[in-house]
Amino acid sequence: MPQPPRRKNVRTVVFKAFGLRAPRGKTLGEASHRELHRFLNPYEHARYPTRMAGDKTKLPMEFRRGWSLTLEKILNILNDRELAKRVATDPNTRTEFKKALQEALFERGIRAYEEEWAHLKGKDIAERVVGRAQPQKIGKKTVKPTPWLANEFNARLALLDVRKGISKLKKGQYYTILDIGAGAGGTILPIVERLSPQERSKLRILLVDIMSAGLKEAKEALKKLGLSENQIITVRGNIATMLRYEKLKQYLGKIDLVTSGAAIHHTPDVTPIFKAVYNLLKRGGVFCFWDWGHAAWRAPNLKVAPKGAKVDKTGQYWEKGLHEKEAGPEEAFISRGRTRGIHPAYWAPTELQGVKMMFKIWISLLGYPKGEQQRFVKWFDERVKKGAPINFLEYLKRLEKKKPEFESPFLFWEGHKPPELYQDALMKVGFISERKRPFTIYSTESPLLYQIKIRK
Ligand SMILES: C[S@@+](CC[C@H](N)C(=O)[O-])C[C@H]1O[C@@H](n2cnc3c(N)ncnc32)[C@H](O)[C@@H]1O
Repeated sequence: MPQPPRRKNVRTVVFKAFGLRAPRGKTLGEASHRELHRFLNPYEHARYPTRMAGDKTKLPMEFRRGWSLTLEKILNILNDRELAKRVATDPNTRTEFKKALQEALFERGIRAYEEEWAHLKGKDIAERVVGRAQPQKIGKKTVKPTPWLANEFNARLALLDVRKGISKLKKGQYYTILDIGAGAGGTILPIVERLSPQERSKLRILLVDIMSAGLKEAKEALKKLGLSENQIITVRGNIATMLRYEKLKQYLGKIDLVTSGAAIHHTPDVTPIFKAVYNLLKRGGVFCFWDWGHAAWRAPNLKVAPKGAKVDKTGQYWEKGLHEKEAGPEEAFISRGRTRGIHPAYWAPTELQGVKMMFKIWISLLGYPKGEQQRFVKWFDERVKKGAPINFLEYLKRLEKKKPEFESPFLFWEGHKPPELYQDALMKVGFISERKRPFTIYSTESPLLYQIKIRK
């Protein structure tokens, strides 16, 4: 009797289409289903600077609707007839297929980031990531970069707990700190620098990063501060899947402080990271970190909601009194009101301010001079005044004809999201109850860098 053909494993088919079953050396572009890759990475072959719009899977999970990254859309891309038939006729296969798609989207986001960082070249690593952005003297003025200020602020906020924790240690015990996305130590060093040699001798430091160049440098810098080899543990790995590493797994429930600076957003869904942090911390342990955040990547077309209107967390609708409005396809709203989630006693920018600032910064990160930033701001303000949608990519196409002063190696559409979504994810994994939200404030004068501190 002829054997019925073997049924394909749905997850395998989906993961293969996304380029996730190929050997690590192959890029996502080479390994994935061509049509699907083109849909997820539509600007890969565009001219600079439009080309720097990254993989859509790197967008925050919560914003995917605004980018039409719906399962239906992806379903259309997978032209596997047998699979399509099974999905259409069998409810179990449909459920399995949806789950596989969701997981593949997330996994591809992780891989897309890994790929981006792994492809940075020596000079870029040295200048942009590893070298700590230090204050610089420009003429008579000392310019302190905002990430440097945020790391200093983070250190001050963490220090009270570190000192107290160290003072309570018994003989032979260590105070354990984990820095996720440690880079070259920009976040951990200001904490350690503030401690006395005596206090430093009681530390155990775990550093996780995907890039080995940074880890090496951070370790050397810690040694210069008096730490010994066995006090420093480096893990070259992905923060999205931290608990897969034996070196970290053995610290479950044993860490006193987890810290991080500008790294968590490099994963499209922060919930698994927060879950791992929660599990790694001791009861009473502290999670103290800062990150980038704004509403700019909610959708390709951003519309400003009316004054006084309340915009939902992902910008899909606004409401004001009896009025409400839903965003159209590829659209999201941004609010003219205060960014939500910030401690009420502290300053908070409006979402509109954050969005404008982020785009303006990207014009400069992409290597264009100040004049271009000013031109952009004028354009942005005019669009807001007219009530016209703001499409950053469309604006970038104007810059294609102009030569930048340098070409950025970094892709945008990173997983930046406003603080409220970080807080939701923290609470979801068990950090704190609805009534007592994590302490969240802006750590610098930038409306883009916010600081969160929370206890397990
Ligand atoms: C902007 S740097 C910040 C480094 C450091 N915290 C500081 O403030 O100087 C972000 C770091 O996150 C790391 N990174 C990005 N995605 C990562 C991932 N998925 N897993 C581990 N590290 C990651 C990068 O390699 C980089 O070192």
